[in-house]
Amino acid sequence: MSYQKKEVKTIYFNEFKATLPSMQGKTVVITGTTSGTGNVAAHTVAHLGAKVILLNRKSERSEKAYQEIKSAFPKAEIVNIECDLQSFASVREAAKAVIRTCPEGVNVLTNNAGVMALKDEATKDGFDVQMQTNHLSHFLLTKELFSSLTKAADSAGEARIVNHSSIARMNPKKILLTKYLEKRGGNLGGDSASMLFGGARWLRYNQTKLANCAFTAALHHKLQNAGSKIKALVAHPGLSNTGLQVTTVKDGGMGGFFTDLFMGFGQSPEDGTMGLLSCMCKSDAQSGEFYGPGKGVMAMKGKAIAFGLEPFYDNEETRSMLWQKSCEAIGEDFNI
Ligand SMILES: NC(=O)c1ccc[n+]([C@@H]2O[C@H](COP(=O)([O-])OP(=O)(O)OC[C@H]3O[C@@H](n4cnc5c(N)ncnc54)[C@H](OP(=O)(O)O)[C@@H]3O)[C@@H](O)[C@H]2O)c1
Repeated sequence: MSYQKKEVKTIYFNEFKATLPSMQGKTVVITGTTSGTGNVAAHTVAHLGAKVILLNRKSERSEKAYQEIKSAFPKAEIVNIECDLQSFASVREAAKAVIRTCPEGVNVLTNNAGVMALKDEATKDGFDVQMQTNHLSHFLLTKELFSSLTKAADSAGEARIVNHSSIARMNPKKILLTKYLEKRGGNLGGDSASMLFGGARWLRYNQTKLANCAFTAALHHKLQNAGSKIKALVAHPGLSNTGLQVTTVKDGGMGGFFTDLFMGFGQSPEDGTMGLLSCMCKSDAQSGEFYGPGKGVMAMKGKAIAFGLEPFYDNEETRSMLWQKSCEAIGEDFNI
């Protein structure tokens, strides 16, 4: 099966970009910058003057993306650090390298990278490949970089942790289940690719995107209770024509013909990054805010607006379960 990314016109992004404040003097760490929203976000914050740390697994794509951003912004400080989110050991090494490279601290940590509807396979740590890539490794990365975020918050007055979720957080039952966060990779329902009728690949993806929101909600409450100056925010890109669908089709999670039709409803990667960049850069963005092209299941395109965290994951039971299972998965406590 094959599918080539469908090109669609950027409508809002250039006007939006002009409203963003300077990021001069700020250090921004972003996962998954080889394509899509992470790539747009990295280029935009480099343009705004930030020091940008790219966290990518090793590949020709990663090297190419690094060279492109370096040549687009020759005066900017851009560092590419190897980080494979399918491996906790790699995430720990990457965090150490970030701390060495950024003695000034980290102003913005953007947990962007993701994969969608992949086969029922385990990482070498034993977890579902989607849950470890999309949530568990980002949980670990946040824990490892927490002192760097605190340092930046102390000197700059604030720092931010930004997670990237999806409309998929709402499908199908809005309940986060413990089994998806456990060491059961490869035993979580098989490879059914039915997006509309509860295919297991999609159920696992939906759980990861719900986990991104529950993580934000848990962080937000813990940070507020601790009187921290670190903000926790979450974004979603609507439906955006990035590399995400290309990877999914290649893995058998979507048909090429259907994807081509479906992505006719999508927006460009640039327009899809407005939510993420709002969380990362907007001066008035508050902890506990959610930015994207609207709140409902049909919010597939348009300008990013702010709304609140939603009760189906922002509740004590879900927040505590997410935190406990994520700590168990990484084998360490994360105390705030
Ligand atoms: N596009 C949409 O319509 C849509 C909708 C809702 C939510 N999202 C979310 O948006 C985020 C960004 O996705 P995108 O749409 O921009 O897709 P994309 O173009 O495929 O970008 C995904 C990025 O994640 C990286 N990545 C994947 N696995 C990784 C790993 N093991 N270690 C390190 N990096 C890894 C990819 O790097 P490689 O080159 O190494 O694969 C790539 O840079 C994801 O969290 C996704 O769930 C997207």
